[in-house]
Amino acid sequence: MDVHVAFIDFSRAFDTIDHGKLLCSLARMGIRRNLWSCICSYLSDRKQRVKWGGSVSESRPVLAGTPQGGIVSPTLFVIAMNNLDENIHPSVIPVKRHEASVRELRRILDDPTHPCRQFLPPVVETTYSLRRHTIQVELAVTMTTGGTVPWGREYLNEVFGTFEEGIVDDEGEGSMKSMEFFHDVFSGGSYGGRLIDVGSGSTLYQVISASMFFSEIVCSDYSQAARAEIEKWLKKDKGAFDWTSYFQYFIELEGSSEKIEDREQKLRQAINAVVHCDVLQPNPTHPLTFDPFDVMVSAYCLEVASPDREAYVKAVANISTLLKPGGTIVFESYIGATFAVIGGAKAKILPVEVDFVVQTFKDAGFSDIKTVYYPSPDRDEYKVTDVKGMLFFTAKKRCS
Ligand SMILES: C[S@@+](CC[C@H](N)C(=O)[O-])C[C@H]1O[C@@H](n2cnc3c(N)ncnc32)[C@H](O)[C@@H]1O
Repeated sequence: MDVHVAFIDFSRAFDTIDHGKLLCSLARMGIRRNLWSCICSYLSDRKQRVKWGGSVSESRPVLAGTPQGGIVSPTLFVIAMNNLDENIHPSVIPVKRHEASVRELRRILDDPTHPCRQFLPPVVETTYSLRRHTIQVELAVTMTTGGTVPWGREYLNEVFGTFEEGIVDDEGEGSMKSMEFFHDVFSGGSYGGRLIDVGSGSTLYQVISASMFFSEIVCSDYSQAARAEIEKWLKKDKGAFDWTSYFQYFIELEGSSEKIEDREQKLRQAINAVVHCDVLQPNPTHPLTFDPFDVMVSAYCLEVASPDREAYVKAVANISTLLKPGGTIVFESYIGATFAVIGGAKAKILPVEVDFVVQTFKDAGFSDIKTVYYPSPDRDEYKVTDVKGMLFFTAKKRCS
């Protein structure tokens, strides 16, 4: 695999932030409208003048930049920088500057005898201007594909950040269907006991319905950042993601008049562990071992975790060890997707068909498989994901 690295050093960075782009970024992050209007007003209609000795210049409008000395300015700057890579091809992974790694890379590049040099093509150094920003590209080495996907806060903000505004886009409608499925399954059956959610990511929507019926819920995921988001919510951390509109949605689906805080409390009490898991390992929760669970939930994880079909088949066998014989799996999967772009990084997804998924579960000892399939509407362009549909099913692990 070729790897290109580009280091970008801005000059007058704080002063050149485009207000319009910054406000767009804030809106897309899903911040509340009132806060957005407040920041909009904070940035607008600013003037500044220069005092030199006893003279004062004319006032000039401030059309760009974060206000000097403003407490929120560094945060606004970071938010603006976050989207810098927006129009860069998703296969390019943004990496925030880290002095130690810059120094290390410099050392390797400066030393023609360094063993790592054999992997690198000749170094190109260049400087160029992009509109008002002067960007110095210190090094241009090789381009990369794949990489680490930010399944923590970025995933939440991008996929779950806009519920209040009413989800109307294609992916949004998919999310509604996904939630309705969990509601239909749990409210339509007699469930209870212990539940494990495999590949929870940073999300809770998939266990809100279940919190009515299970006294013990274990959330699990490979990504530490994703697990940290769940932990934050459990601890009512100030920076935790706000799931209230999702709780409200489930309460309405249930036709209940329960208060949101009470329902949140129910889920907080039910979740008794958030653990590391790797579905590609024979014991996915290694080094922990759990007694098998009554019910397993897994949404959009196996096709993300598995590099190929062989790994997928093994992953199904691996996760099935976490379930009691006779236990139920509640499963959701992307169909036909090869990628999803999250926080500027491209997650590679294994494209699977309905028949393949169902057959794999049958072969792994599941029966009574009840499926629902929702095809995604055709689009001219697949920017965020090329998902073709969503498969939802429940199945029972055979007793022998
Ligand atoms: C698309 S997200 C799904 C998250 C959540 N279940 C949902 O419905 O939104 C895929 C999740 O799979 C997790 N994942 C990727 N590889 C994994 C592995 N080998 N074992 C367990 N989880 C993995 C990622 O960390 C990520 O949180």
